[in-house]
Amino acid sequence: MKDFSGKIAVITGGGTGMGRELARQLVAEGCHVAMCDVSAEAMAETKRLSEVDRLPQGLRITSHIADVSDETQVLRFRDEVADRHDTDRIHLLFNNAGISGGGSILSDARERWERTFNICWGGVYYCTRAFLPMLQKATEAHIVNTSSVNGFWASVGPKVPHTAYSAAKFAVKGFTEALIADLRVNAPHIKCSVVMPGHIGTSIISNSRKIQSGNEGEVLTSEEIRQARIRLAATGTEVSTLADEDVQKLWAERVRRFREEAPTTAAAAATIILDGVKAERWRILVGRDAHRLDELVRQDPEHAYDLAFFENAAKEVGWRLGN
Ligand SMILES: NC(=O)c1ccc[n+]([C@@H]2O[C@H](COP(=O)([O-])OP(=O)(O)OC[C@H]3O[C@@H](n4cnc5c(N)ncnc54)[C@H](O)[C@@H]3O)[C@@H](O)[C@H]2O)c1
Repeated sequence: MKDFSGKIAVITGGGTGMGRELARQLVAEGCHVAMCDVSAEAMAETKRLSEVDRLPQGLRITSHIADVSDETQVLRFRDEVADRHDTDRIHLLFNNAGISGGGSILSDARERWERTFNICWGGVYYCTRAFLPMLQKATEAHIVNTSSVNGFWASVGPKVPHTAYSAAKFAVKGFTEALIADLRVNAPHIKCSVVMPGHIGTSIISNSRKIQSGNEGEVLTSEEIRQARIRLAATGTEVSTLADEDVQKLWAERVRRFREEAPTTAAAAATIILDGVKAERWRILVGRDAHRLDELVRQDPEHAYDLAFFENAAKEVGWRLGN
């Protein structure tokens, strides 16, 4: 698909981060957008930002509350899109919504683990199933599934458990790669891409915490402080002498650094993704760190989970993720 003008794009997780920037850039190219998210407030801000420049006549941006891990809500979202856009077809599906958390299958509650897995993988699966009939009706269409570098490297460091997210992101990558042949055989006018971003400057850390805990505020609950202590300890911080307020401050600093000190902004990431779709690339690596990590893992897969590999990779790509 070389031109998004006049097309209809569905974006999951359009409220913030890369989903928001995808919406803004698609709208700027004259594409109708239907987004879903669990936050109405965040979607209202995406809509406001997308409308800053005067919208072309008749362009529609619609917002829909839907949790992508719940198939009933996904089907309702699909029906609302058909209704509000007065259409039986869409051209682009961005399965972008995702959260982190549930790192350990041993020490995390099963509920947390499955929340992450069911959003990151289940959301992609349910939305693909739900929207396929509408994609089939278009003359050309594209499914864009967001995985991660954790879709080819299941780690954020050798001492930090990261199982739910990695399992889900590997599933997204495997599914999308297999979808290439399935679409070629059964619906050749639909293409697909898997997106593997490196570190992108978004609020995913705080958004994930809020979704996992249901605590919308910025002050951590005692359970969240406990979780933060475990994470800090895993990355080498002496936590026994830290007061809860210190943990709170370290957490806020981690959130800020992740967002503000990333090598790639969410806007730059969205441009790379959309350029990849136009070029019909099935694998879209986002950021120099993602490209380099891909090379490093391929060069030495046997040692990819060793401490030395992580230290070298972090130094090479300039990650300062720390705790
Ligand atoms: N930021 C990074 O460094 C990075 C790296 C690799 C992959 N990713 C992936 O990119 C995608 C976008 O992440 P981001 O960094 O822009 O994060 P973000 O938190 O800024 O945006 C994600 C959006 O998805 C929404 N969302 C979460 N759970 C949802 C659900 N159940 N149903 C509907 N919406 C939901 C959130 O409310 C949020 O608006 C995610 O799949 C993430 O895993 C991010």
